[in-house]
Amino acid sequence: MSETIGQRFQEETVIARLGVSDQKRGVPMPPLEVRLLDGSEIELPAVDSAWGKTTLGSAIRSRRSVREYAALSLSQSELASLLWATQGVARVWEKVVTFRSAPSAGARHPFETLLIVHRVEGLSPGLYQYLAHEHRLLASSFSVTANELAAACLGQKMIETAAVTFAWVAVRDRMTWRYGERGYRYIYLDAGHVCQNLYLACEAMGAGACAIGAYDDAAVNQLFRLDGVGQFVAYLASVGKKTVKA
Ligand SMILES: Cc1cc2nc3c(=O)[nH]c(=O)nc-3n(C[C@H](O)[C@H](O)[C@H](O)COP(=O)(O)O)c2cc1C
Repeated sequence: MSETIGQRFQEETVIARLGVSDQKRGVPMPPLEVRLLDGSEIELPAVDSAWGKTTLGSAIRSRRSVREYAALSLSQSELASLLWATQGVARVWEKVVTFRSAPSAGARHPFETLLIVHRVEGLSPGLYQYLAHEHRLLASSFSVTANELAAACLGQKMIETAAVTFAWVAVRDRMTWRYGERGYRYIYLDAGHVCQNLYLACEAMGAGACAIGAYDDAAVNQLFRLDGVGQFVAYLASVGKKTVKA
């Protein structure tokens, strides 16, 4: 067969092949949030969405992928703003639909955000989850270091020096419950929106981000104790303060 997996994926996930979704079949909706870690909860500062003086136009114009970071910490307030920009919950409608800072197909919002914190004021280095609905952090009872994550991301050194690396975990059924196999397309489309918000929010606060799509799926999922099927890392991004050029 000359057809590639990519071609088959395109053909078999066209709208005409949607079929009867789990939602239409009456399967209960997956929860809007899943705890991936089991440590203690940590308060985050409230978000002041008026942070920074950069205009949207200049943030779009000057944004670049940043892979070299200053040895400076992010404040918790800055981290809270980045989390809000990427996944902040604006409104939950009827306990069924969530509206957030980034758009999502069918407002399904399939992601949980994991953070590998390296240099954030007041936070011990380690793994955390952003509880978007509560705007809090959840600490991990197991450790993942920036060096381990860098190794799983094909040795990309910027992860070792980043203040924090975001990992967006797709909770597949949150999306496929409505869209079946086509939902996989939407997971990756959604991830792009989320990461672009991160880039622009970083730009507004003198930080920089670098998207990470090159990683060993199995190794990254294993680090975060994800099964790689129902829950898997769809995208990552490292973040740090920019170095001041002389
Ligand atoms: C889907 C995607 C995956 C990417 N993966 C990586 C990566 O693994 N490592 C990396 O250094 N840059 C990665 N990048 C960043 C691109 O290399 C970068 O956006 C491109 O070179 C253009 O540069 P600019 O973002 O500064 O405009 C990725 C970007 C995208 C959109």
